[in-house]
Formats: sequence, C-alpha cells, structure tokens
Amino acid sequence: MASSCPDPEPEPESVFPREVRLFTDSYSESTRFCFCGHELSITQNFGSRLGVAARVWDAALSLCNYFETQNVDFRGKKVIELGAGTGIVGILAALQGGDVTITDLPLALEQIQDNVHANIPSGGQVKVCALSWGIDQHSFPRNYDLVLGADIVYLEPTFPRLLGTLQHLCGPHGTIYLASKMRKEHGTDRFFQHFLPQHFQLELAQRDEDVDVDIYRARHREMRPSGHHPIC
Ligand SMILES: C[S@@+](CC[C@H](N)C(=O)[O-])C[C@H]1O[C@@H](n2cnc3c(N)ncnc32)[C@H](O)[C@@H]1O
Repeated sequence: MASSCPDPEPEPESVFPREVRLFTDSYSESTRFCFCGHELSITQNFGSRLGVAARVWDAALSLCNYFETQNVDFRGKKVIELGAGTGIVGILAALQGGDVTITDLPLALEQIQDNVHANIPSGGQVKVCALSWGIDQHSFPRNYDLVLGADIVYLEPTFPRLLGTLQHLCGPHGTIYLASKMRKEHGTDRFFQHFLPQHFQLELAQRDEDVDVDIYRARHREMRPSGHHPIC
C-alpha cells in the first residue's frame, strides 16, 4: 500500500538562495560619482515605491559629463531641475554655484532631500519641491536661466504637460538642457521633432552613441515684434 505521507519538507536552506536582496521589498545603494572636481555620494533607494525615480539613469550621467566637458557656467544662475529622481544633476549644478530648485513628484522628494544633505551639508542654495508637470508649474517663477531634465521624455501622454511646464519656467533668455535616452517605443524622438520645436529653437548639443543618449539645448523662439511694419 502506497504511503499517504507527503514528501518531507525540503530544508529551507537548500531551497532559498542566500541572496538577501531577492526577498526584501527595497534596498539602498550609495554610489560615488566624480564630476567637475566634486565627489558626489548618491543614494538610490530601489524598490517598488519609487519606481523609475529610484535610480541614476544614463541620461543624468551624460548630462553631468556634458556640464563638465563644456564647462557650463552655473554661477549666479537661477536653475530648476525637473523629474530629478536622485537629484544628482541639480546637486552638481548647486555645487557649481547655481541657485537651484530640484523638483519631482512628491514620492521622490525624500530621496532627493537626503542626497542634497549628504552632498551639500549646509543645504546651500538648494530647494527641493514637488512639481508635477502641467499641474504645479504656476507656483514657480517664469524666469529661470537654466531648466534641466534627464530622462524625463518617456511618457507620451505627459508630452503636452511637459511642454507647457518648460514654456512656463524658461525665462525669455533662458536655456533648457534635456538629456534623453532615445526610446523609439516611448515616442521620445517625436517630442524633440514635433512638440518642442513648436515653441523652442532646438539644437542637438551632444550625442552619446554608446548609451543612445541625446542632449538637446533649447531656447524660446525669437519673439517677432507685432504690429510694427516698416514704412516704405
Ligand atoms: C527615468 S526617471 C529619471 C530620473 C533622473 N532625472 C535621472 O535621469 O536619473 C524619470 C523621472 O521623472 C519623474 N516624473 C515622471 N512623471 C512626472 C510628472 N508627471 N511630473 C513630474 N515628474 C515626473 C519621475 O518621478 C522620475 O523621477
């Protein structure tokens, strides 16, 4: 007669790997990055809560590298970063002398604030604020000298709201730097070919072929004086 006893339970240790991270909801990783002579310590809090805001994306590193190689001058400039995630780009801009506001959705603000404190102990000239594109921009001034964004062009339904936010924030003589992984499946190229040129003059400042990241520089289109026609 066959035994009805179930097979013995396997030893837990023989089934479960010892890699702790597989069973934790979240974990943090601090990484050091060097740009413009500053050593930045950036903590990324991986897990379902922060989603794509958790990590430092290639586009952010390309943008920091661009600022270093092109010697972009932040001194005394009014700067805002959108969709900052860890805040690495805005933190570098602040260390380089900018008067910086770092923004993202509310869920990412604690991570950004912690990274600001770790790298700019006095807090310097840095503000960390919630800014959801198309919703909150009217609480911010319209006169930023530099508007920065790394890997924020990846959700097609947000493109009109993102465009409206850029239009609001960028001062008349301001410059926008957007670094983007060029994901065709997310319509990233359409944002740069069809949306942005409606209101901004655009140039490709740098392409990082190895990581498929483009860095665009944009400025408001020249205002044409209206109603002033030359008298012939
Ligand atoms: C791919 S991550 C890039 C993070 C960071 N800039 C980097 O490159 O490492 C996209 C960021 O955009 C933010 N984001 C997405 N939709 C947003 C919205 N509607 N308003 C504001 N931020 C948004 C996310 O929270 C996230 O931090």
